[in-house]
Amino acid sequence: MMKTILTGVKSTGVPHLGNYLGAIRPSLKLIKNSQAHNFMFIADYHSLNSIKDPAAMRYATLDVAATYLACGLDPEQVVMYQQSHVPQIMELCWILTCFIPKGDLNRAHAYKAARQQNADFGREDLDHGINGGLFMYPVLMSADILGFDTNFVPVGQDQRQHIEIARSIAQRINQHYKKDLLVEPKEIIEEHQAVVVGLDGRKMSKSYDNSIPMFVPEKKLKKLMNQIKTDSAGPSEPKEWKSAPVFHLYQSFVGAGEVANEFAQELSQGLSWGAAKEKLFQVVNDELKEPREKYTELMSKPKLIDEILAHGAVKARTRAAATLARVKEAMLGVSLL
Ligand code: ADP
Ligand code: TRP
Repeated sequence: MMKTILTGVKSTGVPHLGNYLGAIRPSLKLIKNSQAHNFMFIADYHSLNSIKDPAAMRYATLDVAATYLACGLDPEQVVMYQQSHVPQIMELCWILTCFIPKGDLNRAHAYKAARQQNADFGREDLDHGINGGLFMYPVLMSADILGFDTNFVPVGQDQRQHIEIARSIAQRINQHYKKDLLVEPKEIIEEHQAVVVGLDGRKMSKSYDNSIPMFVPEKKLKKLMNQIKTDSAGPSEPKEWKSAPVFHLYQSFVGAGEVANEFAQELSQGLSWGAAKEKLFQVVNDELKEPREKYTELMSKPKLIDEILAHGAVKARTRAAATLARVKEAMLGVSLL
């Protein structure tokens, strides 16, 4: 039987080069080469946990959709939809809630990290400022995955525990009802995926204010490149390329290999930082120029994006409804199909 690949993207900000190289580019490549049913959705209900402004929410959703479409997602090959358009996911979410020990949620990384932050601030109440949405995040994510009979979930390293939780809920349910009610999903994690560095040399992240957005205009992109941290070596002096963010970003784009080695050699032979940044700009701009134009066009046509998402939602609801009916029938003792 044809396998199912599903991935979700939170809509919480303008995607940067780290998101592009670490998530968008590899997942689109995987989909392009796959012979599977492909689903890609915008996890807007996950984002609601942090974004409470409807205009920001709407913009972020359009932004993710336009970004993926601009980077080559073909809506005929991939069902693209918005999580909030599929109410079956929410119904399944409650069902799954009844099968996860609360202790598993206590041990989830994001919740633990939020409590640790409170401890670091010396707060007595370690749950200070943590809402139920953050606590329940792994269950909603499990519903996203299990509702679609997903076999494979391409994600970043940081999401491994979430897929393990989804798998363990499916196993618990299958064992209890003594049948294969839910497909047990597996994560696909690119183990060698290097962390993309930001302007200051740390991991590129929107939380560090060190990121380069994917689709800034050319001039702005050049300006940002010029802000990448370098050491004070003079124009023709050999450069310490190994630790240089300019080199790391270049290598993230072209991959480890001959082209990156050549760049390293040029740096060690005294290529100026200015010229190195120009080279980096060329590589980034060559790859993102066309998508940038498509993205700008799409963002000026939100109706078109809405239509694509609505079309995807119809297919997504059909699929999730079948899973939900199967699960309800087994659990509630009624026939719904
Ligand atoms: P941010 O750290 O900016 O908040 P997210 O956590 O929203 O980014 O990232 C979404 C996905 O993008 C991650 O699961 C990961 O796969 C990828 N990603 C983000 N930042 C990087 C990075 N610096 N290098 C490689 N991949 C990244
Ligand atoms: N939690 C994921 C992230 O932060 C986004 C996400 C939500 C997701 N539901 C999903 C990813 C289901 C894969 C499958 O990146």
